[in-house]
Amino acid sequence: MKSYIHGLVCPKCKKHYDHRKVQHLCECGSPLLAEYDLKGAGRAVNSNTIAGRPPNLWRYAELLPVEDEANIVSLGEGFTPLIPLSRTAAQYGFGALYLKDEGLIPTGTFKARGAAVGISRAKELGVKEVAMPTNGNAGAAWSMYAARAGITAFILMPEDAPYITRNECAAVGAQVYLVKGLISDCGKILARSIPARRWYDASTLKEPYRIEGKKTMGYEIVEQLGWQVPDVIAYPTGGGVGIIGIYKALKEMQELGWIGEKLPRMVAVQAAGCAPIVEAYKKKAPVSDFFPNSKTVAFGINVPKALGDFLVLEALYKTGGCAVAVEDREILDALRELAAAEGCFVCPEGAAVFAGLKKLRAENWIKPEETAVLLNTGTGIKYPDILSFDLPYCAIDGEI
Ligand SMILES: Cc1ncc(COP(=O)(O)O)c(C=O)c1O
Ligand SMILES: [Zn+2]
Repeated sequence: MKSYIHGLVCPKCKKHYDHRKVQHLCECGSPLLAEYDLKGAGRAVNSNTIAGRPPNLWRYAELLPVEDEANIVSLGEGFTPLIPLSRTAAQYGFGALYLKDEGLIPTGTFKARGAAVGISRAKELGVKEVAMPTNGNAGAAWSMYAARAGITAFILMPEDAPYITRNECAAVGAQVYLVKGLISDCGKILARSIPARRWYDASTLKEPYRIEGKKTMGYEIVEQLGWQVPDVIAYPTGGGVGIIGIYKALKEMQELGWIGEKLPRMVAVQAAGCAPIVEAYKKKAPVSDFFPNSKTVAFGINVPKALGDFLVLEALYKTGGCAVAVEDREILDALRELAAAEGCFVCPEGAAVFAGLKKLRAENWIKPEETAVLLNTGTGIKYPDILSFDLPYCAIDGEI
């Protein structure tokens, strides 16, 4: 399987860059996106060929940036289930509602996709040391894949990031630094350190390949729906890489002729305590403003200003989508509700999406006959303290 990558392009000023060299941002400051020879890829592969391949994200290898298969660093990531939430769909009057469950992936979150492809490509480019700020899950995934690739990872994370994630990083030998601040503060420390340290900057969207891993969620959703697009895809939006990636995948599939004109309406769900994209969407603005004093239980989406905000907003505007904010109380209620109704213990970010979808259905923004996909970006098991129950004891010689 051959990659059909043929370059990198700046989505802002359209300048092209050589993908065979290490690249970070465009000289205009924008992230760079990978471009493929989609005509060539379309001749080499089609939906039938893909159907026979192993159930992991490398089944879309022609549309991924790793040029030599020998450089693939894998822990079996991808092809997570698309679970029908029939009871919940009937209760709220959705045509159909599916949960794309990224909890079933190495490291327990969708971050493994970006890390698998990002680290594989970094290895291919000869990188020996990577560094990144993280809200926890990305750092854990990148540390894991870096260890497997023989690359050293330097990780900066807020001390409040989910505890398990710092152990995941440290256990596989990453150099972890805790910061009394937000991911944006971690990013600033990294930016100050990189010139002297000369690390490969793997910060969100500062290298072009993490998004390529995340876009495979878009390919999978469409493939799992029998190469049909749903009406709505809703995503918990922090840095926005996932939503930008899914939108990129949809446009690639259109060009490949694998889907038609219709695109799903992309929905960015944010916490009310950190909703820069929602604020920008309300004003129909092309970029977001820094969201001060941000705070939410859904730690992964506590990103007060994203480098790729303009790309997230473009995905919303171009697909007729929207952005919606939910309170922490709604997130926690949604988490319990989904667990009890469907047996799905989702992460708080996934629960935020469920809360957002319920709102949009109640407002009839999602119509009764429509199909919606809820992105659950991780397993609830990674957040052991998110819920607490006052449980009764039973005496050891007692009966119930
Ligand atoms: C579980 C979870 N969901 C969602 C996000 C947000 O991801 P993105 O950068 O793709 O918006 C994160 C980021 O840390 C996360 O850990
Ligand atoms: Zn540019």
